[in-house]
Amino acid sequence: MRGGTVVDAGGSRRADVGLSQGDVVAVQAGLDAGPGVTVLDAGGCVVAPGLVDLHAHLRQPGMEEAETVESGARAAALGGYTAVVAMPNTDPPIDGAAVVREVLGLGAKSACDVRVAGAITVGRKGEQLAPLAEMAALGVRLFTDDGHGVQDGRLMRRAMEYGSALGVVLAQHCEDASLASGGHMHEGEWSSLLGIGGVPAEAEELMLARDVALCRLTGCPVHFLHLSTAGSAALVAAAKGQGLPVTAEVTPHHLTLTDAAVASYDPVYKVNPPLRAQADVDALRRGLSDGTIDAVATDHAPHPQEAKEAPFDEAPPGMLGLETALAVLLTDLDLPVERLLALMSWQPARIAGVSGAHGGPIVPGRPANLCVIDPAASWVVEPGRLASRSRNTPFAGRRLTGRVRHTVLFGEPVVVDGQAQR
Ligand code: DOR
Repeated sequence: MRGGTVVDAGGSRRADVGLSQGDVVAVQAGLDAGPGVTVLDAGGCVVAPGLVDLHAHLRQPGMEEAETVESGARAAALGGYTAVVAMPNTDPPIDGAAVVREVLGLGAKSACDVRVAGAITVGRKGEQLAPLAEMAALGVRLFTDDGHGVQDGRLMRRAMEYGSALGVVLAQHCEDASLASGGHMHEGEWSSLLGIGGVPAEAEELMLARDVALCRLTGCPVHFLHLSTAGSAALVAAAKGQGLPVTAEVTPHHLTLTDAAVASYDPVYKVNPPLRAQADVDALRRGLSDGTIDAVATDHAPHPQEAKEAPFDEAPPGMLGLETALAVLLTDLDLPVERLLALMSWQPARIAGVSGAHGGPIVPGRPANLCVIDPAASWVVEPGRLASRSRNTPFAGRRLTGRVRHTVLFGEPVVVDGQAQR
C-alpha cells in the first residue's frame, strides 16, 4: 500500500503499509516492495482500519430477493467495511444456534467479515427469551429484536440479567409499540400537513429511559440502535454521566435528512425510526462531537423495488446504506476524518467485540483489515450500479465527495480501484 496517510486511533502519519500472510508487517515511509509483490496505490488517500458496521440487514435466510449475505458483504466491502453485524430479522429469524451457524457459514465465503446479532426473544415475538447462551457460545456478542423493541419490561430485565452473566451486549430498537402504532413518519408539523400518521419522539425516548433504568438495575451493557431524537441524545448523555455502560449509534440518514423529505410522498424516505426534525438532526450531530454517540451505523435495509413502490403508508420502512455511508458523511458533515473513523471503525469494533481483528491500530503484527479512502474523489450515486440487490437509496442522484478506493480483508484485496474482487 503505497503513498497514503495512515490514520488510526494513534493519529496520522505518512507511510507505506506492507502486508504479508494476512497481517500488517511494516508501516514506514519508502518501503521497498520487492519483486512479485502487488502494490496498491494509496497516493492522495487516507489508509484507515476497515470500517465496522454494527447494523446491517443482509436478509438471508429467507428474503434473498432483497439481499443475500454475499451481495450485502460485497456492498459493505465497496463502502470500506471489513466487518458487519447482520441483524436477526430474517426468515427464519436468527434466534438459535442453527441459523447463527448458517449465516456465519455464508459470511465466511464473502467479501467482508460477517458477524451475527442474535434475537433476544424466540421468533422476535417479544414473549419468551431466546437461547442466548447457546448463541453466545458461537461468538454472538450483540443481541437484539431489531425491527421491534422488546415491549415487556420484565422480559427485558431477564434478558439483561442473562446478558450480564454471559458478558454480551443487549442492543435495543427503542420503540414503544403502543405510542408508535398507526405512525409512518415523524409526528410533527410535516405529518400534520401531509396527513400521514406520526410516530412521536416519545415512542423512542420512553423505551430508552426504561432501558437506562434496567441497565442501572442489572449492570448489563446496553447499546441503543439508530437513535433519532434530541431527547434520546440527552438521555444517553445523562446515563453516560452516571457512569452506566451504555453506548449509542446513529445512522447517516438521521444525520443528513429530515421529515421534510417525506413531502414527496416517496416511500424511499420511509424508515424506522422515521426521519425527524432539523433540531433532532442538529442534536445528533452535536452528539457525534461531544462523545454522546459512539458509532455511526448504516441500518442498511434493502427492500425489493415493488415493495417500495407501494403507497407511503403501506411500504416497508428501510433504506440502503453500506455503499454510501462514508461518502455521505464526508460530504455533508464537517467532522475531521479522524473523528469520523473513530465513529465508523474503532469505536464500533469495540462494541461489536471485534477489535482483536478490526478497527486498527495499523501496526506490524495486526490483521490487515484496511480501507483506502480517496477524500477528493467525486461521484454520483446511481442506484443501478450498486452491488446491493436492492435500489432503495435516498441518495440517488446525489453527487458525493469521498470514495473508497481499496478494501483489504485479512490481507486480501476485496476492492481494488473501486471494483469488487469477490
Ligand atoms: O427502517 C427500518 N428497516 N428499521 C428497522 O428497524 C428495520 C429495518 C428493516 O428490517 O427493514
